[in-house]
Amino acid sequence: MDIASIRENAKKDIQNAKDAKAIDAVRIKYLGRKDGALTNVLKSLKDMSLEEKRKIGVEANALKLELEGLIEKKEKELSAKGGKRLDVTKPGKKVALGHLHPLTKIDKEIRDIFSSINFTIVDGPELEDEYHNFDALNIPADHPARDMWDTFWVKPTTDNGEKIKVSEKSGKLLMRTHTSPMQIRYMETHKPPFQIIVPGRTFRYEATDASHEINFYQVEGLMVGPDITLANFKFVIETFFKKFFGKELEFRYRPSYFPFVEPGVELDIKLPGGKWLEVMGAGMVHRNVFDAVKYDRREVQGFAFGMGLDRLAMIKYSIPDIRLFYSGDARFTEQF
Ligand code: PHE
Repeated sequence: MDIASIRENAKKDIQNAKDAKAIDAVRIKYLGRKDGALTNVLKSLKDMSLEEKRKIGVEANALKLELEGLIEKKEKELSAKGGKRLDVTKPGKKVALGHLHPLTKIDKEIRDIFSSINFTIVDGPELEDEYHNFDALNIPADHPARDMWDTFWVKPTTDNGEKIKVSEKSGKLLMRTHTSPMQIRYMETHKPPFQIIVPGRTFRYEATDASHEINFYQVEGLMVGPDITLANFKFVIETFFKKFFGKELEFRYRPSYFPFVEPGVELDIKLPGGKWLEVMGAGMVHRNVFDAVKYDRREVQGFAFGMGLDRLAMIKYSIPDIRLFYSGDARFTEQF
């Protein structure tokens, strides 16, 4: 075939091509490496005279470019017209779902269980003052028990350098070292009887290791009324733990000391391996605490408890290191 008729035929074929398959066939027919019509012309150049070579070679190469361009254009037209077909028989793409952080899950479970036994859930400030975190909880400035809580003190100025007003009674500002200050704040503004829990973030200035973090979560509990005793505490907390772990457990109460309770106790639970593990501090609200919130201690009594959420999560999910909670590592959270 001569160049002119190849050109004519090829153009017609390209125009008539109805789909991607047809246009592919056209490409092979004219430009195919093995037996394309134009390719054959180009291959035969080597047997031609110099003069012919010049003339036909230039024409053939120009036609090659032209046809390539036309084919490409047609391909684009065809794919635009046909659009992308949706193959409804293909398996769907899996949508990656986020996971709740284990501490979030534990927090929710604890709230649900205490709500179910009629406790009110309250929130308190993470930035506290000395009065609520210490003094009102029967820990005066010179009390050795202040050493039990390594404290992040906060400068009373904002980022803009403005002074934050703190009264003489409030004292210095700090990141709360426990959720117990909310006992005071709640009693200052509510009348007994009541029962509350206060889940929240707490801060301690200490070296971190597998079981200590500078930031962790606690749940405070407080029940106050005319006839509340440690027996009520025992019932409430054992009910809670049975629901939380979903099975019968063994408990051990040990005498302990916290300035804001008298008597004070610590509660241990028995782990599957037989080891006892301390899970919370508790006790009957100290008379000085009732005095601080102006409750008449001849009329009301109460129990208070405080437990570490991280510790409970570690037991429930067998997590070996508290620092994993705050690592931000998705491989960790994806397991829950
Ligand atoms: N606030 C105590 C702590 O952080 C725990 C506690 C709370 C103890 C309430 C007794 C009563 O260690």
